[in-house]
Amino acid sequence: MANKMNKMRKGLEVITGQHKEFKLTECTNANEQTVTDVRETSSKLERHIVGRTKEKDKILAYLSESMINEITVLPIYGIGGLGKTTLAKMVYNSPQFKEYSQVWVYVSQTFDLKKIGNSIISQLSEKNREIAYTEKQMIDNYLQKLLANKNILIVLDDLWENNKSHLEELLGMLKVGESGKVVVVVTTRYEDIAKKICTIQPHKLAPLKDDECWTIIKQKSDFESRYDQQELRHIGKDIASKCRGVALAAQSLGHMLHSLPFDEWESVRNSDFWNLSDSEDTSSTHVLPSLKLSYSVMPSYLKICFAYCAIFPKGYKIVKDDLIHQWISMGFIKAESKSSTWQLGEKCIRQLLGLSFLEHSKSALV
Ligand SMILES: Nc1ncnc2c1ncn2[C@@H]1O[C@H](COP(=O)(O)OP(=O)(O)OP(=O)(O)O)[C@@H](O)[C@H]1O
Ligand SMILES: [Mg+2]
Repeated sequence: MANKMNKMRKGLEVITGQHKEFKLTECTNANEQTVTDVRETSSKLERHIVGRTKEKDKILAYLSESMINEITVLPIYGIGGLGKTTLAKMVYNSPQFKEYSQVWVYVSQTFDLKKIGNSIISQLSEKNREIAYTEKQMIDNYLQKLLANKNILIVLDDLWENNKSHLEELLGMLKVGESGKVVVVVTTRYEDIAKKICTIQPHKLAPLKDDECWTIIKQKSDFESRYDQQELRHIGKDIASKCRGVALAAQSLGHMLHSLPFDEWESVRNSDFWNLSDSEDTSSTHVLPSLKLSYSVMPSYLKICFAYCAIFPKGYKIVKDDLIHQWISMGFIKAESKSSTWQLGEKCIRQLLGLSFLEHSKSALV
């Protein structure tokens, strides 16, 4: 062990030396802002949403009750992947808000009041679509003009800012006095943020029911086209119940189970990963056992390809072809008799997308 430690220390010294030599520096905030966040969302609703209609109706009812107020803020909160953004999209797209001017803002972990203000201005005003105001005063002036005498629905998706005075500043920016009605739906992982920003009772999003998770798994694994449905059904239902109502987990597992035979469905169900200690911690580092499981059953080449993505700064927009080139040059993927390295690289991308370990960037889809 002592020898091993010695060797490891020497290895680390070499890495530190190279780090200095290559002048690798940590990313500053300024750099982060130039990259597109892969988590960025839009109001477009996916097909095949399972359940959630009762919750949507409840939120719509809450909102219509409080429409008398100048500004109504209703946060939806719950752990990552539970379906907050999806529910916000359902509210946004409901006929109740047809007559409203609508704005969808993806807030992200970097809270930037000016960016939020500019995003609202560009969505509400044809004229100012391309302009980004740099001064807060200008933004406030324009917003006051644009929000006055209108009914407006604003979704602030993925809010991480916890500072009370920043949140108050945000609300201040959206208030226009009695002439208009502003309805704001916020999504956040944190209850305390929800409580700080709300004007009416925040909505704690419930986990999906086990049979709803099972429906998602069936959709993603293309269950209906399998010949061994009979044997798999009860195993699948057991797996669904272990997703603990998290839509993202069901989606990721469903994709993983797609190509697996009966005995591997069984080993997924019986895996020790489900018993991993799973605290109530809802921080961003919290990994659900189901997602860890998806990782653990990846083939080793895919694991290393995925782990390699850690070199990109958070929120980085990765260019697919560049990533495949990098994987190949690092020797992570090697040609097989049936497929070339490039084809294997593309397959890795597809697999990681399917598992929801990578996401299409919004700008790539438009
Ligand atoms: N009711 C549902 N039926 C089917 N799929 C769903 C449902 N709810 C969410 N999903 C899917 O699960 C994934 C995660 O959902 P969503 O992005 O809404 O979660 P979130 O709570 O906003 O997560 P985060 O905290 O990371 O922002 C998405 O791909 C979404 O399409
Ligand atoms: Mg979300």
